[in-house]
Amino acid sequence: MQEKLNKIKEEVLPAIEKAGNLTDLDAVRVGVVGKNGTLTALMKELGVLSVEEKKQAGILLNAVKTEIMTAIASKKEALETAELNKRLESESMDVTLPCRPTHQGRIHPITQATEEALAIFAQMGFEMAEGPDIEDDWHNFEALNTPKEHPARQMQATFFFPNKNLLRTQTSGVQIRTMENKQPPIRIVCPGRTYRRDYDATHTPMFHQIEGLVIDEKTNLANLKSVLVEFFKLFFETDDVSFRFRTSYFPFTEPSYEMDLGGVMARNIGKEWLEMGGCGMVDPRVLENCKLDPKKYQGFAFGFGLDRLAMMKYGIKDLRPMFEADMKWIKHYGFVPQDIPSITNGLSMNGGKKCD
Ligand code: DAH
Repeated sequence: MQEKLNKIKEEVLPAIEKAGNLTDLDAVRVGVVGKNGTLTALMKELGVLSVEEKKQAGILLNAVKTEIMTAIASKKEALETAELNKRLESESMDVTLPCRPTHQGRIHPITQATEEALAIFAQMGFEMAEGPDIEDDWHNFEALNTPKEHPARQMQATFFFPNKNLLRTQTSGVQIRTMENKQPPIRIVCPGRTYRRDYDATHTPMFHQIEGLVIDEKTNLANLKSVLVEFFKLFFETDDVSFRFRTSYFPFTEPSYEMDLGGVMARNIGKEWLEMGGCGMVDPRVLENCKLDPKKYQGFAFGFGLDRLAMMKYGIKDLRPMFEADMKWIKHYGFVPQDIPSITNGLSMNGGKKCD
């Protein structure tokens, strides 16, 4: 018996030590004390022994069984601890990592409105053009068919520099810069800052316009109207808009129109019509000034205030705080930088209201 027990011990104890995981360890346990285990088989042999022999052998057998079971238990604990440590290591949390980014900055409503307008015009096939804030007389007035003595010069109170350059009073000069440098077909929009000597609830010395220009061999008023109607429907994200084109006067367009917008946007602020901006067919003299043949080409142009668009769309009442860099104001009216306007993904989250 002793011999048999020693043999079992010699086999089993190293096997326990070698077990690399709980499943292997359990297999060892079953091989010893399971139904067909080696120790279980020896237990069965006890039956044939005399009472005294049974007692002796029983003591030996139990001692070996205890020894093996203790070894199994301590190995089990070691394996469990190792497994837990491994899990803890792989699932550990690095508390020193910086937290997820929060929305620190805000996009100004005018930038947002500009981006939204550009997304719409880009979809329609317009390119973006830019021009300088400091303009010369030719591009801001003269080439736009506004000679020195023209009364329209008085309509726009201009900031002049001593060298006769000026802060542009309108983005229309970019029409000239584009036509001087590019052959038709031309389809551009130009957003930018403009400047006039004015200051009250609806005027600031610096404000923003967006200018549009299309020049081709066959362009007409119907094209102009459809571009503007489509633009305003998309920009205000509603079909509940009506349009009115009033004859007007601008030196650089003939005929010229003032565009009024009705529908939900107007009703929101208790009005029937809202003046949106000017437009018309480009005056042939402007084409000539840019060395384009008016017999071959014609086109349309439009211009409106971006600040006004932003105020209407986002429900901003006073223009002046727009430029006061007040953090409370920008936090309230600003947009999250990740909310990039696009026709397909939506122009502005929550229908123009940003989340905080
Ligand atoms: N530049 C004009 C203004 O500031 C707006 C304007 C009117 C632009 C008619 C245009 C246009 O391009 O065709 O009042």
